[in-house]
Amino acid sequence: MKSLIIANWKCNPESLEKAKLMFNSIQRAAKKSRKIEVVICPPFLYLDKKTYSNFKIGAQNCFWEQAGAFTGEISAKMLKNIGCKYILIGHSERRRILNENNSQINKKLKSAIKAKICPVLCIGETLEQKKQGKMKQVLQTQLFLGLKGVSRKEIEKSKISIAYEPVWAISTTTNKKKCSSEEAHIMNLVLRKMLVQKYGKTVAHKIRILYGGSVDSKNVRGFIYEAKMDGILVGKASLSPQEFIEIIKALEFSK
Ligand code: PGA
Repeated sequence: MKSLIIANWKCNPESLEKAKLMFNSIQRAAKKSRKIEVVICPPFLYLDKKTYSNFKIGAQNCFWEQAGAFTGEISAKMLKNIGCKYILIGHSERRRILNENNSQINKKLKSAIKAKICPVLCIGETLEQKKQGKMKQVLQTQLFLGLKGVSRKEIEKSKISIAYEPVWAISTTTNKKKCSSEEAHIMNLVLRKMLVQKYGKTVAHKIRILYGGSVDSKNVRGFIYEAKMDGILVGKASLSPQEFIEIIKALEFSK
């Protein structure tokens, strides 16, 4: 399986012109590769499948219904029709700032599967939960409620990924803590065990487990080769095309 590199631009940049400059710089570096798959998740407004061929595009969120009277919402079906291949679901900023709960996240995940887009379910504990020793419990709840009612067959077909993003290690948090590749490796094993428990070995091993939280060109190899993650989710570092290209190169040209 190829390593998955997903750029999460969050609510950036502030104009289409700037987004195009960023796309163009990355386009050249993200040549089709046998080793890695590059996905850019810009804000909805900049999604356009026509212009870019060396990477895939993804969305940062979707609504759970496919169409109807839901003012301000964008559905997975619409995203599919515009060329999206991936959707981030349940990012910690949406859980924390927009109060998204596990039941809504589960509905969004199912709508992505229905629209035939690969969902990336984001889970992760806060620093407080970690200090209280509630890490596994929190992750298990987010994982199992996020995947509630999703069958083995759907898992296999939808190419679902789980992104482990410890909230305390995300670059915009104020505590400046970093997750080491050793810690990420332990969590990788813990999550794989939970998935095996839920879906059995064969199906569980088809789910990619990604890491996200302050990934940059210096630490990326540790997360892929030491923590044995199937991919990474990059926020802040993906806003600098130069740095993001270095991340791509770090994986592309390593053994
Ligand atoms: P970061 O963000 O790389 O800036 O820590 C990751 C994310 O929030 O997905």
